[in-house]
Amino acid sequence: MIRSYFLKTLLWIAVAGFAGTVAAQSVDTGRWYSAEQVEQGRGLFQQHCAACHGNQAQGKTANWKQRLPDGSFPPPPLNGTAHAWHHPMNILRSTVYRGGIPLGGKMPGFGDKLQPEEIDAVIAYFQSFWNDRIYQAWLQRNR
Ligand code: HEC
Repeated sequence: MIRSYFLKTLLWIAVAGFAGTVAAQSVDTGRWYSAEQVEQGRGLFQQHCAACHGNQAQGKTANWKQRLPDGSFPPPPLNGTAHAWHHPMNILRSTVYRGGIPLGGKMPGFGDKLQPEEIDAVIAYFQSFWNDRIYQAWLQRNR
């Protein structure tokens, strides 16, 4: 009796655990990226981007619109409060790939450090901070 109760409990834990895992893997964000991509991007973003763009992509200075003495701009927020959403997906990808140096900016390129799917994951991560209004406006620009 005790033994079968024990087995039933074990079975229940196994089933619940499995269902939980499946549910966690298929969270639909309603956007182009999955919850897993956001998770993957979170770690990569902390490692490669947060030093300049802030760990939640909030930027590091309120004066990101103001040129520095050398004529370049500080790293802008990427969380939807600046204008990263003006750029369609292919431009966002190439900005991360090439950086801003070819355009007279300061951001290093990541084409030699990140795989294309990792670049997509960091984009997913900072877009996860965009509210729906910003995200929809960005979608319009991608058409
Ligand atoms: C050394 C600092 C630095 C690092 C590290 C860095 N950036 Fe940047 N980023 C900048 C600066 C500065 C700009 C403004 C353009 C320029 O000067 O190149 C910028 C601009 C951008 C833009 C364009 C935003 C807009 O509104 O036009 C995107 C997108 C971006 N960065 C994403 C990333 C991602 C993703 C990473 C990590 C993989 C990253 N950056 C790492 C400094 C950095």
